[in-house]
Amino acid sequence: MPKDVIVACDFPTAEETLRFLDRFDGRRPFVKIGMELFYAAGPEIVKELRRRQHRIFLDLKLHDIPNTVGRTVRVLADLGVEMMNVHALGTVRMMRAAREALDTGGGPRPLLIAVTQLTSITQEEMEAELLISAPIEEVVKTYARNARDAGLDGVVCSPREAAGVHAVCGADFLTVTPGIRFADSEAGDQRRIMTPAQARREGSDYIVVGRPITGASDPAEAYTRCCREFLGEGREI
Ligand code: C5P
Repeated sequence: MPKDVIVACDFPTAEETLRFLDRFDGRRPFVKIGMELFYAAGPEIVKELRRRQHRIFLDLKLHDIPNTVGRTVRVLADLGVEMMNVHALGTVRMMRAAREALDTGGGPRPLLIAVTQLTSITQEEMEAELLISAPIEEVVKTYARNARDAGLDGVVCSPREAAGVHAVCGADFLTVTPGIRFADSEAGDQRRIMTPAQARREGSDYIVVGRPITGASDPAEAYTRCCREFLGEGREI
């Protein structure tokens, strides 16, 4: 199972993103492009980062009717990204439409994963605002099972939930886990967090790390620390 650190490039412009990645001394981290950057810079930034040989997780968290999501997934897959995602809340039918759309193109297909419950959401918020009363771990496992049944490759979840997801969906079902903080860094708006080393012990396959790297005075060094803690000594990328 490939393990890797994915750097969340949550920047408002292409220029800022490229300037940030230029500070990695020639290393080419696996990067995540989310809504902020994609809506600001469009498909061009994806193409530019591909030209620079970055692997790309396009994190647009699609959630709409099955037909719209399927057609959109097809358009985004043609950009040549490595990984993309939809919301499990969209139902098995929507996820299946997304997965089937990926089979219609030539060439290698991206990994398709589902967002379960955002790592910023607490049990209390889920109960009071979304009227979901089951324990969050159970909600995540159910959404993961739905994603697997729809033919998806894995889920985005908290590292706290990675072991539970693997227990239900199998070791090969990917867990991509944001909500990562160094022992000495700020949580920010994240609630269900872990350190890279804890995420490794819980069995996360990919960790997604934003502010602990983008906000560091030396991002390359913070990235190296993340790789060291998550992948183990001697497996820096
Ligand atoms: O800065 P930070 O490390 O909190 O960034 C985490 C990244 O992962 C953000 O880009 C956020 O949108 C994304 N993400 C998340 N929780 C999810 C799915 C994606 O934090 N469930």
